[in-house]
Order: sequence, then structure tokens, then C-alpha cells
Amino acid sequence: MAFAHEPLHLLLLLSFSSCCFSSTSTISSFKPQRLVSKIILPGSVHHPHHKPNETAKESMELDIQHSAARLAYIQARIEGSTVSNDYTANASPSLTGRTILVNLSIGKPPIPQLVIMDTASDIFWVMCNPCTNCEHHLGLLFDPSKSSTYSPQCKKPCGTKGCNCDPLPFIISYVDSSSASGTFGRDTVVFETTDEGTSEIFDVLFGCGHNIGYNTDPGYNGILGLNNAPNSLATKIGKKFSYCVGNLADQYYNYNQLILGEGAELEGYSTPFEVHHGFYYVTMEGISVGEKRLAIAPATFEMKENGTGGVIIDTGTTITFLVDDVFKLLYNEVRNVLGFSFRQAIYENTRWMLCYYGSISRDLVGFPVVTFHFADGADLALDTGSFFYQLLDDVFCMTVGPVSSLNIKSKSSIIGLLAQQNYNVGYDLVNQFVYFQRIDCVLLSG
Ligand SMILES: *[C@@H]1O[C@H](CO)[C@@H](O)[C@H](O)[C@H]1NC(C)=O
Ligand SMILES: *[C@@H]1O[C@H](CO)[C@@H](O)[C@H](O)[C@H]1NC(C)=O
Ligand SMILES: *[C@@H]1O[C@H](CO)[C@@H](O)[C@H](O)[C@H]1NC(C)=O
Repeated sequence: MAFAHEPLHLLLLLSFSSCCFSSTSTISSFKPQRLVSKIILPGSVHHPHHKPNETAKESMELDIQHSAARLAYIQARIEGSTVSNDYTANASPSLTGRTILVNLSIGKPPIPQLVIMDTASDIFWVMCNPCTNCEHHLGLLFDPSKSSTYSPQCKKPCGTKGCNCDPLPFIISYVDSSSASGTFGRDTVVFETTDEGTSEIFDVLFGCGHNIGYNTDPGYNGILGLNNAPNSLATKIGKKFSYCVGNLADQYYNYNQLILGEGAELEGYSTPFEVHHGFYYVTMEGISVGEKRLAIAPATFEMKENGTGGVIIDTGTTITFLVDDVFKLLYNEVRNVLGFSFRQAIYENTRWMLCYYGSISRDLVGFPVVTFHFADGADLALDTGSFFYQLLDDVFCMTVGPVSSLNIKSKSSIIGLLAQQNYNVGYDLVNQFVYFQRIDCVLLSG
């Protein structure tokens, strides 16, 4: 099994009435009502796949593998083909543990589930008891028959008198031929907030997966899809969401968070997005290194008529991948700035990565901020901690790569998680704008 969290087709696309999320949130502490959930980033000590003794180089290797698999996945979905890439064979979320997780609890009594937060999936599903092929799930399986608040989603509404419920089937199949199937149901979902409180949402529709078509340990219990499809949780509760990502290098940072619905943080500059193939595409207009704007041809980032190209903002990729022409310009500019003072280091196996001997914190003070410019004046500013990665004590590398490096014929550029560090990213699904606000996520809690 490889990268399972990307639906290629929803075999059953179901039309739900507008019934689905009856109530938004109640919060146990005396806070304004907001639907907030802590999120667990790759590398965090709170991540179930955290390896305490993993070196920075080992983490980066997993990030590269994981990002490559995700890129192959994105490409396969864009082209509607199957994944045929070496990376998919050896990278899965369980091997790499490089996915963003949400710790949510379902039912009464609440059963904790770690699910992948994926802005490019539409459905919310978890593994449910009884389950075939779920041996390696994390923690307890959710058992609908033991939750007093669970109700099946019936094919036909039962009215007030009740009826024999014929449960609505749930089937999802992924581009790497993994799958999950079961029935749809509804229950209470409880999130943990960053200030140790909880946020509750009642009567949430989700897929209860009783048959999981994975070959190996998926390493998570389900997927929380946040794209703009009609049935995604993001669409159902207020058509807004935001996530805030702190410093990935800080394993103890615990203020990374997801806010769903009305309370979402839509602050800072915004840029329009479009959704294609289930991904959020933004209009990138340029890149600057300090004051210097790279000479990128305007059409470079545009989406082509056949649906290839464009720039995707993604949370499943760690590294940022730019189309080769742009990567080359950026690479050359960084070499111009650093080449005289630093000795280049060759990262064996990953030669496309531009690396130098030195320390980010000691030697790169004053290195110009690298800015990604988007339509309507929104920017993502990458300081040295976002643009470089300390691979070894004395070697740092650029966290941006060329799409061609991975043998994946991607024509799209992908903005990854490292580039979104120290930002709150807000999505307004009604007006189709994404907001970038540079902030320490701790300022959002409370
Ligand atoms: C990590 O390293 C420490 C000290 O070197 C050792 O005591 C510990 O057992 C190691 N932990 C793991 C999970 O390998
Ligand atoms: C998830 O939440 C449950 C219930 O609050 C808690 O017991 C568990 O430790 C959490 N797991 C992680 C990985 O944070
Ligand atoms: C899509 O169009 C671009 C140019 O417009 C072309 O270079 C590319 O090969 C096409 N891709 C596919 C998959 O047809």
C-alpha cells in the first residue's frame, strides 16, 4: 500500500439533504464558541510515529520520500492514471509518519481516533469495528454499536415513527488501489483544543469503514477531508476553515491548530483559489529573494488548458516543488548569494538538493527573505528556518526542489508544509479566497 489518502474516484457519490450537521460547537471551558482542534505535525513528540532518536537527516529523508510519493499521487490524480513510480512502493504514511494528524474522539463514550488532515480529500471516514484488515490501527477501533449517540445514515429518511434503516453504503477507493468501505453514520465528534479544552460537534456524518483494502499498516485511523466538495466537513460546517502551522523543527511546539467553520481565522492578505482535481490551486505570480524579483515568465505558473500546470497549495507534501525553469532561477540566485561564502555540500542520493556547509542559525543571519508572491498581493515569506533545513550539524539544504527531480512528470508546482511554517492559512470556500497571515499560532488560542 502506498499513498492512500487521495481519493481518485468516489465510487458512490451520494446526495445528502441539507440535514447533516445540526449543531456547531459547545466548548467545555468558558471560551467563545469555536470549533478548534489541535493538529499534530510530522516530527512532533506527540505524533504516534515520532522516533525520539531520529536524526535530522533521517527525518529529511523521510520527508523527501513522503513528498515524492505525494507528488506522484497528485500527478496520478491530475492525469487520472495509476501511480507508476518507485517512490510509492516504499513510502506509506506508516513508514514515514510524515502526515498531519488530528486527534478527535467519536461517540459516547468518546473513542480517540488519529486521522489524517487532508485538504485534498473530500470525505471524513474512520475505521470501525468490526473491521477487516484493521489490525494495525492506532488505539481503539470505534464501535458504533457501543456508542449511545451513534445513528446510521439511512438510504431513505425514516421520519418520526422510525423504520427499518437501510444504511447508506460508503465506499472510497484510492489511486493506489487501496480502499475503504462500510456504511455512513452520524455521531458526536470531540476535538482537543490547544488550551486543553475540548470542542464538540454533534451529528457529524462520516464513513464507518468496516473493510479496509490496505496491504500494510496504514498507521492512522481515517481521513478528515477538507476540500470544497459538497460533503466535506469543511463545506458542511460554515464553508470556512483555517490551519496554523508553527515551527516544524520544534518537536515540542503544541499550538498547531485547525479551526473549522465560523471561528476560522481569515486574516492577512488573500488570494483567489480554484479547485481542480480536488486540490486547491493558487495563482502564483513570482518569487523574490530579498529585493530581487526573479525573472519568471508570467505564463510559467499558469494552468494549461488540458488541466496540467498551475500551483497547488498542499499540506501533505513537506518540501516545495517548483517547475524546473523556476527552480533553476531560484537555485542560481541562492548560489549567487551564498556561493562566495559557503562551500557547497553534495547530498548523496538527493543531488538536486542545494546544500552548503554551515549552520542556519549561526551563519545565515541576514540572509534575505524568500517571498512567494500570489495574485492580489498575498505573499508567503520564507525566512531561513522555512527556506533551509539543517540536515547535519554543519550542513544545511534548501527546502525547495524541482518537480523533475523525482522522475515524476509533474507540470504543477506544489507549495508544501515547510513553506507554510509560521503562518495561519485560512480558506473561505464561499468566495474562494485563501488568506496568509504570518503569526505565532500561540496567539490564536484563548
Ligand atoms: C535513544 O537513545 C537513548 C540514548 O542514546 C537510548 O537510551 C534510548 O533507548 C534510545 N531510544 C530509542 C527508542 O531507540
Ligand atoms: C488523543 O486524545 C486522547 C483523548 O483526549 C488522549 O488520551 C490521547 O493521548 C491523544 N493522543 C495523542 C497522540 O495526542
Ligand atoms: C498539456 O499541455 C501542455 C502545453 O499546453 C503540454 O506541454 C503538455 O504535454 C500537455 N499534457 C498532457 C498530459 O496532455
